[in-house]
Amino acid sequence: MKIEKQIEFIEAVFAGLEKQEMKQDADGITHQINAKRYTSSARLASEKNILFKNFPLVVGAAAALKKPGDYFLHDFTETPIMVVKGKDEVIRAFLNICRHRGVRLLEEQQGHIRRNIVCPYHAWSYDTKGCLKGIFHPQGFHEVDADSHSLIELECQVRLGLIFVVPNPELKGKIDIDGWLQEVYQVTEGFDFGALVPYDDRMGQLNCNWKLLIDGGLEGYHFKIAHASTIGPYFLDNMSVNEANKLHSSIVFPKKAMKKLMGSPRSEWRIRKYANILIQIFPNTIVLIEPDHLMVVNNFPLDEKTTLSASFMLLPAEPQTQEERDHWDLNANIFWNAINEDNEMAVLQQKSFNAHSATYMTIGSYEKLILQFEDLTDAALAGNLQLV
Ligand code: FES
Ligand SMILES: [Fe+2]
Repeated sequence: MKIEKQIEFIEAVFAGLEKQEMKQDADGITHQINAKRYTSSARLASEKNILFKNFPLVVGAAAALKKPGDYFLHDFTETPIMVVKGKDEVIRAFLNICRHRGVRLLEEQQGHIRRNIVCPYHAWSYDTKGCLKGIFHPQGFHEVDADSHSLIELECQVRLGLIFVVPNPELKGKIDIDGWLQEVYQVTEGFDFGALVPYDDRMGQLNCNWKLLIDGGLEGYHFKIAHASTIGPYFLDNMSVNEANKLHSSIVFPKKAMKKLMGSPRSEWRIRKYANILIQIFPNTIVLIEPDHLMVVNNFPLDEKTTLSASFMLLPAEPQTQEERDHWDLNANIFWNAINEDNEMAVLQQKSFNAHSATYMTIGSYEKLILQFEDLTDAALAGNLQLV
């Protein structure tokens, strides 16, 4: 983040604190969100079909694929995806489907391809660039060649150490990923994240709609209450400042320690030490920028009431000593204790919505980004938010 922007954010926090003291920190306008958005199977079906098919999704960390030939599978959307680091070091994504009669090619969740990917049915083989290399008894397949029958490639780009894949093969080559991530770059530019090494991968299934997990990240109103025994005491109560973004929400959650900057020269103000900065990459990823590392949470809907949450830390360098591992483990635990509290709230919301005991949510001034996110999903489902 540019220094001027950091200073602007910090100034906004201090102005916010003054307004908070005078009880003028909000316009008080409330809205309602219909609870059916979180229980409708028809809505979830179109979310899967559009949001989780036509948009760049974070499928993992680039540094997880260390050597050429390393791969992992991603089966959290309707599309079976394999992500492979080619012998040329380029990371690509393909449909994990044989071009002969459609057998799933790779079954192990992650691994290493020595030379070629060989289909277990009739041994058609493909290299790490997806190119058809061999057909068993080729005389039976005159019209088949690498041009027509290589693996189906998906749009796949590495940015910020993350692998973005668009599951819809028809969009290959048509996505301007840098245009799409402009708002994200405005936050991340100028920060040194180091090697962005993944650490402490976790995966969990949660009994709630995926959007409730995103909503929980978009406001700091709950910090003092829901996180009272974990991170709450370290943050300024109900004090967050956000960018007026159109696609990806970015919010600064200032720590109490930020107050130390009051009275010191603005030129010395740096935000990362004194705040957590959250970026929600539309639709389903949350990146939390902490002082010395990043946390990444990706929420994939299994059905309208169940979500698979796949997360990892991104560290500036591979930890080398036990002391370093202890440091990151401690950080991870702090994060996970807080995230579990958020997740619990989402599960409790879902219980009420499932029982049709709550028909709508009330959204106040402090929670406007939730409305913005919900509006954006509506726009995308209506075809009004397209990348091509
Ligand atoms: S289905 Fe793959 S080789 Fe036949
Ligand atoms: Fe929270």
